[in-house]
Order: sequence, then structure tokens, then C-alpha cells
Amino acid sequence: MSVFTEKVVLVTGGSSGIGRASALAFAKAGAKVVVADVDVTGGEDTVSKIEIANGEAIFIKTDVTKAVEVKQLIKKTVETYGALNCAFNNAGILGHSSSTAACTEENWDRVLNINLKSIWLCMKYEIPYMREQGGGVILNMSSIAGLGSGLQRFPAYTVSKYGVIGLTKTAALEYAKVGIRINALCPGFIHNTPLFESQVSQNSDFKEVAINQVPIGRFGTPEEIAEIAVFLCSDKASFITGHPMVVDGAGSMSRYVILNK
Ligand code: NAI
Repeated sequence: MSVFTEKVVLVTGGSSGIGRASALAFAKAGAKVVVADVDVTGGEDTVSKIEIANGEAIFIKTDVTKAVEVKQLIKKTVETYGALNCAFNNAGILGHSSSTAACTEENWDRVLNINLKSIWLCMKYEIPYMREQGGGVILNMSSIAGLGSGLQRFPAYTVSKYGVIGLTKTAALEYAKVGIRINALCPGFIHNTPLFESQVSQNSDFKEVAINQVPIGRFGTPEEIAEIAVFLCSDKASFITGHPMVVDGAGSMSRYVILNK
């Protein structure tokens, strides 16, 4: 029997990048996976990749910034598979690169809504189901941008990722006694995702500048993050809660420089 046999796992932002790799990894570990995203083509593609590998998954189109859609997502998940054991609240965007003074209100609101408000909304509707079924595990996507020094030219992103860690710790304290573990994941630079590659296409120096900030000497892969997501959601991590797990090749120990001109 696999680690996640009979378990139902929700992955938001599962249409590409880290979310897709995680959905595939959870399915490989035996879970029934619910993929949620605004990107329908990508979401359906993730599901078919899981099915080709003999896994089980469904896609539910969801904008995680909208309470009514998140509520419906959780309801449909439980109606379809009868439970919600783990949720990886991963959807997020980088937003535009600009200094703090130049950041627009539109960019600020968009980034904070997708990266932070969505995490609160997801937990708001996931937690009551998990309580009712006697426990569960939640993993919220932060970043090393939410730790230590700020990330120049990405003020909204930095604030959103700091916020995810604060929210994760608060919720972890509130629900520890009812069997719900809640952690955050803080990756460093993870390449081969649309979010990362958008920076590469906008700035010819990006790769070189970024890699110099990773002591291990390379970028991480979505699959490496997926492995940690699976571990943190498994019973092997049963004594870990309220923890921001750093997976960054020691990147958070090096000093940030300006990534975009
Ligand atoms: P990605 O762009 O491949 O994945 C993000 C997914 O979120 C996309 O499928 C997108 O359609 C979805 N999404 C965006 N807005 C949404 C909304 N309103 N509702 C539902 N889904 C929505 O990017 P990647 O790199 O896989 O990032 C995933 C998460 O990991 C993000 O939260 C990001 O901030 C975080 N992260 C990424 C790092 C990297 O270097 N790639 C490093 C640290 C954190």
C-alpha cells in the first residue's frame, strides 16, 4: 500500500510548474488528486498525465481569490471523493517588477489577492471539513522571499510571502489540538516553471545573477519541491506543524542583489 492510498489531496495552481509536479507526485504516492487552477488547458493536461500513469485525478476550474469558487471547490472535492485529507495551497504569481514607490495599486492588489488572500480563503473552507473528519494536513506556498532580507523590486510579492508564513503559524497554533497540521513551504529559485521562465525572458542577466545567489550552484526543480510537499503532507512529518520549510540550496543564506533593472 502506498503512503497516500485512500487519501484525497487538493493542489491549487496545479496546471503548471511546482503545482503540476506536486499533483503528479501525490498521485504516484497513491492519492486521489484534485487539481484546481484558472488555467483549464493546463489543468486538464495535468489530469491526463496522472491518468496515463494510472493515477486518479479531477480538474476543477477555480479562481482562488474568489470565496464562492473556493467554497465550491472544497464542496465538490468532498462530494467527488468523500474526504479532504491534504491541501497544498500553492497558486501564486510574481507580479510586475518595480520598486516600492513605482508599484501600482493594481499590481499590489492582484499579487496580495492571489498569493495571500487565497491562502486564507482556502484554509477558511478546508479547515471545517478537516475538523469534521478528525484531522488533516495543509501546506501553504511561501518562498524564501518571505524570510530574511526583502526581495528588491518585488514589494507586493515579498509582503505576500511574509504574510503566508504569519498566517500559517497562526492557523497551526489554532488547530494543532484538533489534529490539523499546517506548514509553509519556502523554495528558492525553481526553474522550468512559467513563473521563473517569465523572469528569464524579461531580463537577459537574470539567470547569471540569480545562480550566483545559490551556494549549491544550480536552480531547484519542480520535482524536488514536490518531493518535500509529499513528505510534509505525509504521516512521516506527523510532528511538524507551524514550520516554514526552506528548500533553496542555501540561497536564503546568501545576500540578495537587484534581479531586475
Ligand atoms: P507557475 O506559474 O508554474 O504556477 C502558478 C499556477 O498558479 C499557474 O498554474 C497559474 O495558472 C495558477 N494561478 C494563478 N492565479 C490563480 C488564481 N487566481 N486561481 C487559481 N490558480 C491561479 O509558477 P511556479 O513557479 O510553479 O509557482 C508556484 C508557487 O510557488 C507560487 O506560489 C510561487 O510564488 C511559489 N514559488 C515559486 C518559486 C520559483 O522559483 N518558481 C520560488 C518560490 C516560491
